[in-house]
This record gives sequence, C-alpha cells and structure tokens, in this order.
Amino acid sequence: MEFEKIENALKKGEGEEVRIRGWIYRKRRTGKLIFAVIRDSSGIIQTVVEKGKVSEEEFNDAKKALIESSVEVEGIIHEDERAPGGRELHVTKFRVVSFAEDFPITEHQSVEFLLDNRHLWLRSRKLTEVMKLKSEILRFIREWFHENDFYEVTPSVITMNAAEGGATVFSFDYFGQPAYLSQTAQMYLEAMIFSLERVWSLTPSFRAEKSRTRRHLIEYWHLEAEEAWVDNKKNMDLQEEMISHVCRRVAEECKPQIEFLGRKAEELKAIEPPFPRIKYERALEILREKGFEIEWGDDFGVPHERALVEEEEKPIFVTNFPVEAKAFYMKIAPDGKTVECADMLAPEGYGEIIGGSEREESIESMIERLKKDGANIENYEWYFDLRRYGSVPHSGFGLGVERLVYWIAKLDHIRDATPFPRLLRRAYP
Ligand code: 4AD
Ligand code: MG
Repeated sequence: MEFEKIENALKKGEGEEVRIRGWIYRKRRTGKLIFAVIRDSSGIIQTVVEKGKVSEEEFNDAKKALIESSVEVEGIIHEDERAPGGRELHVTKFRVVSFAEDFPITEHQSVEFLLDNRHLWLRSRKLTEVMKLKSEILRFIREWFHENDFYEVTPSVITMNAAEGGATVFSFDYFGQPAYLSQTAQMYLEAMIFSLERVWSLTPSFRAEKSRTRRHLIEYWHLEAEEAWVDNKKNMDLQEEMISHVCRRVAEECKPQIEFLGRKAEELKAIEPPFPRIKYERALEILREKGFEIEWGDDFGVPHERALVEEEEKPIFVTNFPVEAKAFYMKIAPDGKTVECADMLAPEGYGEIIGGSEREESIESMIERLKKDGANIENYEWYFDLRRYGSVPHSGFGLGVERLVYWIAKLDHIRDATPFPRLLRRAYP
C-alpha cells in the first residue's frame, strides 16, 4: 500500500484502509487507548492505537513515543464527528521511525526562546500555513509576470552601488576592494530593459537598518520590475494589476491557509483596481489633521503610514514625494520640487509594500543628488552610460515579498513571513 497525504486520508470513507507517515503532534492515553494526532505537510489526523489491535511491541512503542517522533501508521478510517477533520484512523500497524527526545517547545514560551528554536518552531501549524501561502503567492506573482510578457532575469547581489543610500548598506572586502550586499537590483534591471524591454527579478536584498519595527527585516526577498516606455502613472497601473491578481488568486486557491490565519477571502477579492492615489502634499494635510507634527521634506515612518491607511480596505498610492526625501534616480517632476514616484501602502495600517518611480534621465541631476549622499560617483559611470546610449522613458518598482505576506496573512510581525528571519542582532539559527 502506498503512503497517502493526511489531507487525502481525511477524504476516505468509513472502513477504508490507509497508510500515512508523519510526526506525532499531540498525544494522550486513557488505559488501553492511545490517541496520537499525526501531522504531515498537508494536515493533521487523529489516530487511535488500541491494546490488542496492534502487536505488543507496537503498543509499547506508541506509549513511549514522545511528540515529534516520526512514525508510519496503517489503519482503517472511521467517521467520527468529534475528531479533527471528521475522521479518525483505527490503527493496525504503528511503526516509530525515530523516537524524538523531549521537545523543547511547549505552550506559552517567549518570543526570544521561539526565535532561538526557529528550526524547530517552523513545524508549528501557523508557520506551516504561512510558508505554504508564501510559496503560492510567489507562484501567482510569476504567473502574472509571465502573462504580461515580462522576462525573469537574475541580477547579481554583489555590487559596488549603494543605490538606496550609504547609511543602510552592508559592505565587505571584495579581494581588496570595498563592495556591498545589494539593497536593490534596480540598476541592473534598468540595464536589461535595453535588450528585453520588460524584466523582473526576485533576489535577496539587504538593509543594515537599525530600526526595530514590526516590518523591517535585515535580509528580505525583493521582487522588482522595470519597464521601458512606461511613465509613473502606467507603472502604478501595472502594480495595482499585479497586486489584485495575487489577491484574487490567493482568495481562489489558498482558502485553508487564509482561513487558518484569520484573513477572509472576500477581503482579498475586493482588492481591485483602481487604488486611490494621493500626492505627498495631500498626505501631509491628512497627517496634520490627525495630529502629527510633520514638515515638508520628511519621509514617512511607520506611524505615519499606519495613520494614512488604518481605515482603508484597499491599498493606496502616495505619489510625488519631495526630491530630498527620495533616492537620486527618481525623475524630478515638472514642479521641480517633487519626484515622479509612488509608494503603495497596504490597508488596515500595514503600510508600505511597494516603492516605485519613473527614472531620472539627466546625468547632472543624478550626480548632484549622489554627491549630497556622499556616494563615490566613479562607481556610477556604467549606470550613466545607460542614459548616454539610447535612453528611453522608463519606470519600475520593488515589492518586499515578506511585507506582502505580512499583510495578506494578517501577521503581527514580519518575522513570521520568512523561515529564518534576520533581525537586528539576530542571525541565528
Ligand atoms: O522602497 P525601496 O527602498 O525601493 C527600492 O529599493 C527601489 N530601488 C525598488 C525599485 O524601484 N526597483 O524598497 C522596495 C520595497 C519596499 O517598498 C518594501 O516593501 C521592501 O522593499 N523593503 C523591505 N522589506 C522588509 N524589510 C526591509 N528592511 C525593507 N526595506 C524595504
Ligand atoms: Mg521605500
């Protein structure tokens, strides 16, 4: 008999024989009966081991086996409303593959303890459902880019350009020369639009940010796209289509995951274009009405973004930030004091999930802004070449994949959107 996934075993009828394998999730004993809930990647099922129905040795092993022991179990399906999934397995064979030691994780443990034991805590049902959801979200993103004629490309993460500012870059010695871990693939993607026109990539990005918030990781998965012949407005159209596609597909295909996590499918189905678009100037007014003291030129922090979207049900765009608040490569708008950029803020207070912009074409303007940031202009010569040889209007954006999962899965901290979170002063395990 083949092994079945627990999910399939739970679809079998009364009296059917099945064979499963997995790990002991919970266990209790009453006299001659051992109730062992077994889990695998697809779900959990209650098994009942009865003295006399299995060999003496198997019964003793079942008695002895602690939670997280790995097992292979055969038995007969019995319909029972009280059991999780409405079925239980009456065991005829119980084989312990490996006896687990006393599992260190029990209920009510501190966040720090759970992070120290992340390699084990990944077995929890919550993290299992989040990881499945993330895998599906990545599939839907790929699907969308494929349907929209983008090429997936593979830029390097070792770079000499700190495109998002020198203050938050990790540097290291590259055979005697200083190099950085990439904060963004954007500049490499820009180089590739001249042959491929529409490109996207998924790479790790690194931010040496000293901020301890619920939505900052030191290392995260960065999904970026760049398109030739596209202005800031069209760039926003594409972003809202992509996000709506992902939300709709999650609502269609990830019901068990989102239900477990407390996200309703209807909420995701309602995420449809167009998303509201407001200018930075208007956002400042709203923030001041809400009691924030904020000056023209200040970038938004977590509290500001939360205040802007706490009552929203769909994401919003905030456009036209002041030149001094944003990166050197953003195109300066006709007003001369703002840039053609847009941040997409997720609703329910989740805040920024995408940063995008139209790209500056004037080399002088970029040099001026880079100098203010103390950058080494020489390292940008190759990038300026892109403006010298057949430059075209172009735009692009970057999405923090964990930020998207954080919002869709209604998590209370971004660390649970990634298996081994890199946080301020945490790179173990
Ligand atoms: O807004 P950012 O800094 O924009 C860029 O890097 C552009 N060069 C992207 C582009 O146009 N190709 O970062 C983009 C996104 C943010 O909106 C956020 O979702 C995510 O990356 N992000 C982070 N996610 C987790 N932890 C952090 N520390 C993040 N910093 C940025
Ligand atoms: Mg940003």
